[in-house]
Amino acid sequence: MSTQIPTFQTVSLTLRPLRETDVPILHRIYQMKDVLAYFPSTAPPQLEKVERWISGQEKHWLEHGYGNWGIAPQGAMEIIGWAGLQFLPELDETEVGFLLSPEYWGKGYATEAALAALQFGFERIRLDHIIALVHPDNLASQRVIQKCGMTYLETIPLWGIQLMRNNISMEKYHHVHQ
Ligand SMILES: CC(C)(COP(=O)(O)OP(=O)(O)OC[C@H]1O[C@@H](n2cnc3c(N)ncnc32)[C@H](O)[C@@H]1OP(=O)(O)O)[C@@H](O)C(=O)NCCC(=O)NCCS
Repeated sequence: MSTQIPTFQTVSLTLRPLRETDVPILHRIYQMKDVLAYFPSTAPPQLEKVERWISGQEKHWLEHGYGNWGIAPQGAMEIIGWAGLQFLPELDETEVGFLLSPEYWGKGYATEAALAALQFGFERIRLDHIIALVHPDNLASQRVIQKCGMTYLETIPLWGIQLMRNNISMEKYHHVHQ
């Protein structure tokens, strides 16, 4: 099944399908300080939940033709996080998201991965627009979104917290990135 999920190389990263063997490392990343600080649920998930999330990703790819990738630095086997596109039934929109192990923060990796995900969403899937939902206190994530050319629309209540809804249209993406 994972052969249907494309692998991409960016300047520093490999974006590749998430696999069952990624469960322990992703579970470990979720335990790390501040990783889930701005998520609706800040408690690190059990191993079984991470397993379900990873197998759910494969289903999501099959259903929508896009989804999240595991991210590894070029040449490395082990993932350091994930990034990609997720359809949100609650909003009937597609979100770009990203999460990295703290030791890799501040190297431009999230921006690099988010831009690859936006490129895939607009150029391959031909999505009309892509949103990003960010906690108002998550300044690093807001900066990533800004560097991707996304703009703030509104703050909405979702999943029990307030989230800033940001947007980029296909038109703007092509204008900014071509
Ligand atoms: C958010 C996250 C993905 C950013 O990853 P990253 O690889 O460090 O991001 P980048 O290096 O591409 O860009 C981060 C930018 O935020 C800036 N930044 C970092 N911390 C900041 C802070 N506290 N206040 C303001 N800006 C900040 C950096 O300086 C950088 O901007 P610059 O390039 O203009 O200097 C990472 O912190 C993470 O995984 N956090 C936990 C999961 C998460 O919150 N995901 C997002 C959910 S919406």
